[in-house]
Amino acid sequence: MIGLGTMGRNLVLNIADHGIQVCGYDRNPDQQKRLTEEGKDKPVQVATTMQNFVNSLSAPRRIMMLVPAGKIVDAVIDEIAPMLQPGDILIDGGNSHYTDTDIRIERLKNTGIHFTGMGVSGGEDGARLGPSMMPGGNRAGYAEIKPILEKIAAQTADGPCVTFIGNGSAGHYTKMVHNGIEYAIMQLISEVYAILKNVAGLNNDELHELFLKWDSGKLQSFLIEITAKVFLQPDDKDAAKKLVDVILDRAGQKGTGMWTSNSALELHIPTPTINDAVTARDISVYKTERVQIANYRTVTAITAPADKNVLIQQLHDALYFGIVCSYVQGLHLLRKASDTYNYQIDIAEVVRIWKGGCIIRSVILTDIRNVYLNNNEISNLLLDKTFYQQLIANRPALVEVLKAAMENNIGTPCLSSSLSYADMMGTGRLASNLIQAQRDLFGAHTYERIDAAGAFHTDWK
Ligand code: 6PG
Repeated sequence: MIGLGTMGRNLVLNIADHGIQVCGYDRNPDQQKRLTEEGKDKPVQVATTMQNFVNSLSAPRRIMMLVPAGKIVDAVIDEIAPMLQPGDILIDGGNSHYTDTDIRIERLKNTGIHFTGMGVSGGEDGARLGPSMMPGGNRAGYAEIKPILEKIAAQTADGPCVTFIGNGSAGHYTKMVHNGIEYAIMQLISEVYAILKNVAGLNNDELHELFLKWDSGKLQSFLIEITAKVFLQPDDKDAAKKLVDVILDRAGQKGTGMWTSNSALELHIPTPTINDAVTARDISVYKTERVQIANYRTVTAITAPADKNVLIQQLHDALYFGIVCSYVQGLHLLRKASDTYNYQIDIAEVVRIWKGGCIIRSVILTDIRNVYLNNNEISNLLLDKTFYQQLIANRPALVEVLKAAMENNIGTPCLSSSLSYADMMGTGRLASNLIQAQRDLFGAHTYERIDAAGAFHTDWK
């Protein structure tokens, strides 16, 4: 393992717990020291130079880098590549952009080194106890690392949460889409939180209880589970307060959500729920401006719900609707990318390895996997009639939630765009004929007709 930060160090300890000899290296002596301490009594070795690290491994060397994405990955490759032999495997386990992974694969092509871009999800706990891993590259390289990865991955009833994802940068692409879905679900939860808190008037203890309850039903998932926990955490500066209430409302991002949207726009796959989640984080950053505008914005007093419990149930169903749309859009994108970039991704397998270990694990993925197991070539999950009908059964609840949000001046971009997405995807004739007419009128861009084949142009009066 090269890079002994939180993720790298915890993965080393995870590997060692399975009785596998593992060597760690980090340029920073403090990180070396930390692993030496944490790894004592385990089959862990710590190298103090890159050369010692490489020498400690038997061929074919199986090396994973867990260093910050970007220039550092290239710097490590520059340093280590001359020390390696054909057949060695070099894994980049960070959140690298998939196009960087393609460049690196190309760069190392003639060296015989198997370069594997691998997404790793699950944060610190996942790394330590079992992450979900998304390796791409080539099957020969994967065969060498498979036995180790299968041991250290999260385990589910459907097997370990790792599989060969596909050719080239397929692993990093899939992790990127995972993160796009992650952004969307997190934003949806925060929109529901805004209504629960401000309209239904739930306090933190009640929010905790509610999310705990939701985590035992059809919303059961890692993100709902940790949300329940968040509401209990006291502020360590003032135990009378809850931490969530003193955290500044500016959301950070490292870019993977935006990369997903960028790629979706390039491939013309509609992912509005994901896109709006990225935008919502961007809006949150404008705190100063928001506060200034809020000072002169006239808002009416909150309209109390006629029946709080009815609204809470509607919020539950609306959240389900939005989360399902997030997966639908992300997986539609993955299908298109797989076809476009010849990744040859088995989507049912991706869904299987997302069922444990990763941030977006949820019981909803069981239904989704069943659709793909039945028809792995389906381009969009909404084309499965039963699946679509199950989703749309929650539409009335979502509409009521959106009414409550609008009446009470609460922005809910992801809930709203999920509804528009499902409505438009389920509309046989959209209003886009008008756009075609406009395009032809001002630019002679031509249009197609419903009653005859070919491209038509009209001299508009
Ligand atoms: C995971 C996460 C992780 C991600 C961080 C930060 O699957 O474990 O997706 O890889 O990088 O959660 O993401 P942002 O800073 O962009 O929110």
